[in-house]
Amino acid sequence: MSTLWVGTSWKMNKTLAEGRAWASGLRDHLAEEMPAGVQPFVIPSFTATAAVGDVLGEGSPVLLGVQNAHWEDAGAWTGEVSVPQAKDAGARIVEIGHSERREHFGETVETTRLKVAAALRHGLTPLLCIGESLEVKDAGGTSEFILDQALGALETLDEQQLARVVVAYEPIWAIGEKGRPATTEELIAPFAALGEAFGGKVAGLLYGGSVNLDNAAELLGIEHVTGLFVGRTAWQLEGYLELLRIAEAHAAS
Ligand code: 13P
Repeated sequence: MSTLWVGTSWKMNKTLAEGRAWASGLRDHLAEEMPAGVQPFVIPSFTATAAVGDVLGEGSPVLLGVQNAHWEDAGAWTGEVSVPQAKDAGARIVEIGHSERREHFGETVETTRLKVAAALRHGLTPLLCIGESLEVKDAGGTSEFILDQALGALETLDEQQLARVVVAYEPIWAIGEKGRPATTEELIAPFAALGEAFGGKVAGLLYGGSVNLDNAAELLGIEHVTGLFVGRTAWQLEGYLELLRIAEAHAAS
């Protein structure tokens, strides 16, 4: 059984004080009880990255990330943050191509490809998010659509580079307050397609979208799923710790 990735993006949430409190609770919990076979990660907003890294401490088993980064290393890109800057703030993961960024901020397959390359160039782990709309799903186009997104961003990578990439499949219709969790039945075919293209070749194939304490174990049981990428359920530390316990139990089974 490969390592199970269990992480959260806070999206545009949490003050510094809230972020520090969450991180110190996690640090103290993991010092007592590090889940075997699980790779935890946390992706705060940019303002909290360094603070969360400081609280987690040097050598923390928790990988710290950012929710986006520009493909250029520096320059006249007002409002953007580069991969070297993210790395300087302590990040080891760069989230790329979340559907909210594709929908609202003009992220395209081409920009995700450039950002994956930038992350790899600086030794960070790209966490590439892919996922289809309800229209695409209803038209039966899910697997083709998500493979196009993934291959468009990853097909120029060599074997070693690909082995450092984590892919998160997050159907848009399953994400957030208006979303509903995908059923196992709905996920079998997309993960079979992803497994065929990337199984054993990437560092992880994660599911995200309305993951909760009731469905997490079942989602981890789907073939080719090697982790969970979580929003709301993990924003309260207790929810995240419970997800880590569920993943640990699954890794041991
Ligand atoms: P929710 O778990 O809140 O649906 O969010 C999922 C997500 O978008 C993680 O990036």
